[in-house]
Amino acid sequence: MGSRLVGYGSYLPEKIMTNQDFEKIMDTTDEWIVQRTGMRERHFAAENETVADMATIAAQRALTAAGLTVDDIDMVIVATTSPELDFPSVGVQVLGQLGATRDQPAFDVRGACTGYIYGLHCARAFFSTAMHRRIMIIGVEKMSRFLDMNDRSTAVLFGDGAGALIFEHSTSSYSGIIDTVVMADGKCFDMLHGSPDHKIIMNGPETYKKAVTLMPGAAQYIMDHAGITAENVDWIIPHQANLRIIQSGASRLGFPLEKILVTVDKHANTSGASGVLAMAYGMDNGIIKQGQLILYPAFGSGLTWGASLIRV
Ligand code: UT7
Repeated sequence: MGSRLVGYGSYLPEKIMTNQDFEKIMDTTDEWIVQRTGMRERHFAAENETVADMATIAAQRALTAAGLTVDDIDMVIVATTSPELDFPSVGVQVLGQLGATRDQPAFDVRGACTGYIYGLHCARAFFSTAMHRRIMIIGVEKMSRFLDMNDRSTAVLFGDGAGALIFEHSTSSYSGIIDTVVMADGKCFDMLHGSPDHKIIMNGPETYKKAVTLMPGAAQYIMDHAGITAENVDWIIPHQANLRIIQSGASRLGFPLEKILVTVDKHANTSGASGVLAMAYGMDNGIIKQGQLILYPAFGSGLTWGASLIRV
């Protein structure tokens, strides 16, 4: 029992914030940001643009690409860490904004930057029991909500956006969401967490050290479990937090630079939306082709980490 990908869509807010824009408002330089992170620009949502609004646009684009309507979807799972409202879930708001006329389940998962893989993990479990026929998974963040423009060590790192994938139940276990693994370690809470006044508290260097071992570790676990090596994988799309982390992790796994999909220069770190936005970018631009095998590892606040193997 498995799944297959039937549609995808993404959304990036109109406003682009460049490194040069940051130079004008804080003590930073384009050179520092590019050298330390690989980031050049990121998208920021408009003030009145909500997480649910962005998720709905990405979802509608995925539905259109799949030739479906929201009523054809049997479950919506939204990975997000930045919803404006405590309740209801963004998933339910998306159903409302899309004009669903039938009852279907929708919920959010909070796995920070690993959230999208937590969402895929849930979907895989539902497909394996054939409980739902079509599941839409959305990764969406408005990280700009949390940015403190007085803290240059975090303000330049994040961006906003949304991506959605629709999977359909399939009897093949070699397509769609083939495998997932997710983990969490609450002892590392202090490394990266939110504050009661909605700010990002991060020990960058400590988080970095964890990321360069946890992400490749999860990716290797998935490859071992699937009985494959880096040679069998067409693209590795690591969570887009820092170019140096991406390159170090991929080289530990034996992936050549040509197989690493990088969008951190364009989107910066969009947390739970990062992997799906990168995947959508790859498919939109003909970089990722139908039938290819994608390995997607991520890590984030919690700490949480994991990886997924998807055939598109
Ligand atoms: O999705 C998970 C999210 N988190 C991450 O992935 C973060 C992982 N960590 C990182 O990516 C890196 O640690 C950072 C990019 C956050 C920082 O890079 P770093 O090479 O670890 O720099 P650092 O924190 O050790 O700071 C080096 C210097 C410091 O100055 P001093 O103390 O050496 O004088 C900082 O104050 O760089 C300074 N600095 C900046 N300078 C210019 C910090 N932020 C900036 C900035 N512009 N924006």
